Amino acid sequence: MSTAPLFDLDDHHLAGTETRLGPQALVLRGFALPHVERLWPALQTVIEQAPFRHMVTPGGQRMSVALTNCGTLGWTSDTRGYRYSALDPDSGLPWPALPAPFMQLAQDAARQGGFADFTPDACLINRYQPGARMSLHQDRNERDFLAPIVSVSLGIPAFFLWGGLRRADRAERVPLFHGDVAVWGGVDRLRFHGVAPLKEDTHPLSGAARINFTFRRAG
Ligand code: SIN
Ligand code: FE2
Repeated sequence: MSTAPLFDLDDHHLAGTETRLGPQALVLRGFALPHVERLWPALQTVIEQAPFRHMVTPGGQRMSVALTNCGTLGWTSDTRGYRYSALDPDSGLPWPALPAPFMQLAQDAARQGGFADFTPDACLINRYQPGARMSLHQDRNERDFLAPIVSVSLGIPAFFLWGGLRRADRAERVPLFHGDVAVWGGVDRLRFHGVAPLKEDTHPLSGAARINFTFRRAG
């Protein structure tokens, strides 16, 4: 169940505006745009060391989203469950360090979203190709829920599903465009969220893909 979208995916968004999602949740429109020039080459270095891969859910399903990580801790999934790990299970090596431009963006966006002193130790990098989706979930594998989540969108657009504190609560469809940054924490930290199946599209930077960085304080 959902009501009409806040915007059409074809609408261009207004960089510099904010879309409020809750008392302590918002989308900073276009906030990452001035950072892209530094983020993109740093991303290439990360994925050379730790390539995108499709993990398996605890239920044994292959995830439609491909992922990798950088930072001291990386989010992983396999048939034994979801967890943070200091080592990339594919290589046995530590995840690549969080590049300086990633840290800068995460901290600037958190501050702009009302969360000073955010120091993420984990950056999950998700790659969505058309058809990929992420079902409604809460981010709750972190040690505590004091720090916010900072979530950066690059490439082709998607509808973010923004739910309530209970799984059954109605989810709003919020379009996320290249350069948008969602920040949520405090009373909104455990809101259910997900991503609707992506439509066919291409973007000059990423081709037929959406790249999402999710910064968290996990350990
Ligand atoms: C996530 O919840 O891990 C990803 C959200 C997104 O791709 O925007
Ligand atoms: Fe999430």
